[in-house]
Amino acid sequence: MHSRMIIAIDGFSSCGKSTVAKAIAKRLGLKYIDSGAMYRAVTLYFMRNGIPIPDSDELVDFPFDFNPVLDKIQITFQVNPATGLSEVYLNGENVEQPIRTMEISEQVSHVSAIKTVRKKMVELQQQEGEQGGLVMDGRDIGTTVFPHADLKIFMKADPMIRADRRFKELVSKGVEITVEEVISNVVGRDYEDSHREESPLRKADDAIVLDNSHLNQEEQVEFVVKEIEKFKVGC
Ligand code: DC
Repeated sequence: MHSRMIIAIDGFSSCGKSTVAKAIAKRLGLKYIDSGAMYRAVTLYFMRNGIPIPDSDELVDFPFDFNPVLDKIQITFQVNPATGLSEVYLNGENVEQPIRTMEISEQVSHVSAIKTVRKKMVELQQQEGEQGGLVMDGRDIGTTVFPHADLKIFMKADPMIRADRRFKELVSKGVEITVEEVISNVVGRDYEDSHREESPLRKADDAIVLDNSHLNQEEQVEFVVKEIEKFKVGC
């Protein structure tokens, strides 16, 4: 019944979007695509190859043609049989690990503000959804990528709670970082993602808000499942 559904989950950085999206995809047997991973993979390519990255105030008339670079970038997803989840590949290399570093987090908002980068990523994301049956999380999925998604969730949480969660996650992975650095990254990305010219982060008019500041993972999944149940009754 839900096998062709498209579910868009947007929201602020470090809100736990991917955790909820993965759980929903698993529960309904849908494909899961992390659109942020695509922007991170492009950022990794730029950084490895010395491609100039404009600051937000340099975007207009930046003297560099990104199109030839983008033509050299192939981003694909493959399901990891051990986890059943799709993982992102950059030109055939599994980059799930290297795209999660702080260095990438610090640059990804700049790269994702480049118009030509967004155009290419949105096309790829729409191709992924051509057959339906998909949960995708990001910043502009309900507004730009799938404006007709069956269900749109907009996730938010107190910035300090988000930064604290992200800090604990990074520390548990052995990353040496201060909580102040994480707060600055989370708040900075929120600002850049919501103020850029090209499809900024904003709640779609028909999205349902999920504030997970004080909800555990199970409660968040239940919240979304209840919305899906309503959809079933409605159709
Ligand atoms: O979800 P994430 O934190 O991994 O995303 C990384 C960055 O990519 C985020 O700061 C903004 C950008 N992004 C975007 O602009 N549009 C999307 N649909 C997904 C992510």
